[in-house]
Amino acid sequence: MFHLLYLFLLYFSIVISKFSSFNGKFIFFACVYVNFAVTYIRISLKHRKDEENFMIKVDISNVWGRLSLPDLLATEKEVFDAHRTLTEGTGEGNDFLGWLNLPVAEETDEIRRIRAAAKRIRETSDVFVVIGIGGSYLGPRAAIELMQGCNHNIGKGKGNPQIYYAGNTLSTRAWNELQRLLEGKDFSIAIISKSGTTTEPAIATRALRWMLERKYGTEGAKARTYAITDPVKGALRQMATEEGWETFVIPPNVGGRYSVLTAVGLLPMAVAGIDPMEVMKGACDAKKAYDIRSFENPVWLYAAARNLLYRNGKAIEILESFEPGFKMMGGWWQQLYGESEGKDGKGIFPVTAEFTPDLHSLGQMIQQGERNIFETMVRFDAPENKLTIGGDYKNLDGLNYLEGKTLDFVDEQAFQGTLAAHVDGDVPVITIDMGELNNEKLGEMFYFFELACGVSAYMLGVNPFNQPGVEFYKRNMFKLLGKPGYEN
Ligand code: PA5
Repeated sequence: MFHLLYLFLLYFSIVISKFSSFNGKFIFFACVYVNFAVTYIRISLKHRKDEENFMIKVDISNVWGRLSLPDLLATEKEVFDAHRTLTEGTGEGNDFLGWLNLPVAEETDEIRRIRAAAKRIRETSDVFVVIGIGGSYLGPRAAIELMQGCNHNIGKGKGNPQIYYAGNTLSTRAWNELQRLLEGKDFSIAIISKSGTTTEPAIATRALRWMLERKYGTEGAKARTYAITDPVKGALRQMATEEGWETFVIPPNVGGRYSVLTAVGLLPMAVAGIDPMEVMKGACDAKKAYDIRSFENPVWLYAAARNLLYRNGKAIEILESFEPGFKMMGGWWQQLYGESEGKDGKGIFPVTAEFTPDLHSLGQMIQQGERNIFETMVRFDAPENKLTIGGDYKNLDGLNYLEGKTLDFVDEQAFQGTLAAHVDGDVPVITIDMGELNNEKLGEMFYFFELACGVSAYMLGVNPFNQPGVEFYKRNMFKLLGKPGYEN
C-alpha cells in the first residue's frame, strides 16, 4: 500500500515539474527520503517482532498470589549479579563454563565429522545403541523423543535406524530386552562417558563390544564403534586410542549435564535425522537474545520467580507439559536442576509430570495436598495437522457437544482449566510458551534451561557445576562389589 502511494507521489512530482513552475525536485527528494525512513522503521519493527517471536515466553502472572511485583523487582540486582558471575566466570565452579560458548554459527570440523559418522551409521545400521548415563544420555534421548515422539522407533531400520539406549540401568531385564531387540539386526554403538569408569555404561560397553566383535570381527566392530569422551584423559579415551575407534570430544570444561550441545547430543540427533546445525542455530540465537540484563529476559523471569517461590516455602517444582514427547526432556531438566541446585542443604526439588495423564494421578496432590509446590507449565504451538472430533448420531458417550471442535481446542481448554484450578488451590504457576516446535527451538530450549539453571543456582548460593553427593552411593556400591581401593 505504502509503495503504491510512493509511486504515485513520484509520478505526481515529475508531472508537477513538467507543467508548473513549482520545483518538482523538492517533492521527488522528499519522497525518496520518506521512503528510506519508512523502510528503515519497517525493517526495525520486523526485526523486533522476529526477535519477540523467537524468544521463549515466560509468564509469571499466575504467581502474584504468592509474590508481588515489588518482590520481583527487589531481586533485580541479585539476578544481575548471578548472571554476571556466570558470564564473567567469577563464581564457584568456573572451570566448567565451557557450555556457555558451545553454540556456534559456522559448521566446525567436529560437526562435519558428526554428520559423516551419522551418515555411515544410518547407511549401515538397523539399530544405533547409545551407551551412557545421566548427562551422558538424557540430552540426546530428550531431543529425539521430543522431536519424533516416544514411539519413533516403530517402522525404522537401515537408512533411518532405530535408536536404543544402554548403560543407563543395572537391570538384567532391560539388558535381555536389548539383546532381543538386536537379534538379527545390524547395529553400531556410541559409548558416551567423560570418565569412562562409570559402572553402568562400562558394563554395557564390555557386553556390546563383544557382541559386535562376534558378529563383525575385530575390524568390522571397530568401524561400528564410536566414543564420545574427554579429549585427553580417562579410561574411555585410552580405550578408544588403543582400539582405534573414531572419537568425538566432551570438552574438559563442560560437565555431563551441560553437554547436550556437544557430540553427546549432536551425534545421536544426527543419526535420528535432526540437523545439528539447525539445533546450533537456535542455541546461537538464544545465546545472543538471552544475554539481555533486564526482566525482559525470560531467563531472568524464570530464575527469579522460582527462587522467590522457594523463599516463600515452595520447595518443590513440577515441570509439566501436555506433550507426551516431552517426558524425557523433563528427565533432562530434572537432572540439570537437581544436580546443579540440590546441595548445602538447599535446593528446589525438581519433579516432572505429563498432563493430562498425571492429572489423574498427581492432580489430587497438586490441588489439595501440602502447599509446598509450584508448577512450571510448558506449552508448544499445536501442529498444522489437526484432529477434528466427529459427530455420532447415537451419541451414547454424550460427546456430540464437541462435534466439529479440534483435539487441540480441547487440549487448550484442559490447560486453561487446570491452570485456573491449581492457581485457585494456592499453587503458583509459571507458564513457559515455547512457540513452534522445530530443531531451532530445540537448541534454544536447551540453552534457555541451562542458562536459567546457572543463574538460578548462583542466586541460591550454590555451585551449579559440581555433584559431590553423587559419589556417596557409588562408594558404598564399590565397597560392596569389592572394587580395589574401596575396601574401607
Ligand atoms: O552430569 C553429570 O556430570 C553426570 O550425570 C554424568 O554425566 C554421569 O554421572 C556420567 O558420567 P560419565 O560421563 O563420566 O560416565
